[in-house]
Amino acid sequence: MTAIRQPFLSASALDKSFVLHAQSGQQLDVMRGLELSLMPGECLVLAGRSGIGKSTLLKMVNGNYRVSAGRLTLHFDDGELELSDLPAQAWHVLRRDVIGYVSQFLRVVPRVSARQVVMEPLLSQGVAQDEACCRAEALLARLNLPKRLWDLAPGTFSGGEQQRVNIARGFIAEHPLLLLDEPTASLDSANRDVVVELIQEAKARGTAMLGIFHDEDVRERVADRQLPLEEHMLRAGDASTAVNDDTQELPR
Ligand SMILES: Nc1ncnc2c1ncn2[C@@H]1O[C@H](COP(=O)(O)OP(=O)(O)OP(=O)(O)O)[C@@H](O)[C@H]1O
Ligand SMILES: [Mg+2]
Repeated sequence: MTAIRQPFLSASALDKSFVLHAQSGQQLDVMRGLELSLMPGECLVLAGRSGIGKSTLLKMVNGNYRVSAGRLTLHFDDGELELSDLPAQAWHVLRRDVIGYVSQFLRVVPRVSARQVVMEPLLSQGVAQDEACCRAEALLARLNLPKRLWDLAPGTFSGGEQQRVNIARGFIAEHPLLLLDEPTASLDSANRDVVVELIQEAKARGTAMLGIFHDEDVRERVADRQLPLEEHMLRAGDASTAVNDDTQELPR
């Protein structure tokens, strides 16, 4: 008997609008009726013009932006979890155990060393200090971050150095779902290759990935499928639904 494979993440009739209170309450319709499904072990690459809503979609999946309408669902073996109406406190657990997110830019916290930034997702899962430290150092070394930087806070690092810390932090906990927002944008080709390898390894252990890659070569190497957003939703502005206010990020 063939097992039916089910997606790990799905979106159905997903809408996203922003209400700009500081600008006469204007409404910006970004996404209408988006449909997608993402399988375990698959890397689905979001494609489409600048401003179409690629980063917005990742932020909705990560709970930074609210869903305006429609369904965004995680499918576990023992049931489904609807993300569009998840209470704020549930996001903390979800981000700790299920969703990894490599944002385009590292959120720098003063006085926290690069090593500590990378270890933190493991420590929050209860992994012992020594093991977390070893795994963080292994990833930083693999991403060619010079050892002399490991004890320094990343605030003064170059764009590419910060991005590598961010990537190490995103991959270290091996979450079942990884969101990647242009993780290779500031990297040289040797480090881009390392990221491609990390993505291939994550696929092999069944990680579902939703990614944005402007670099065509990287995109070709990691994408199992591409999802041109224009073709997977109705035109923004077609619908006139009531919307939530999302100009503010939700608490992380
Ligand atoms: N917090 C926000 N408040 C208001 N509008 C927003 C907000 N975040 C995104 N937008 C708007 O949503 C649209 C989609 O933005 P998004 O950043 O998702 O685009 P993108 O596809 O990732 O583009 P790029 O390829 O340039 O990164 C843009 O028009 C943007 O101005
Ligand atoms: Mg973007």
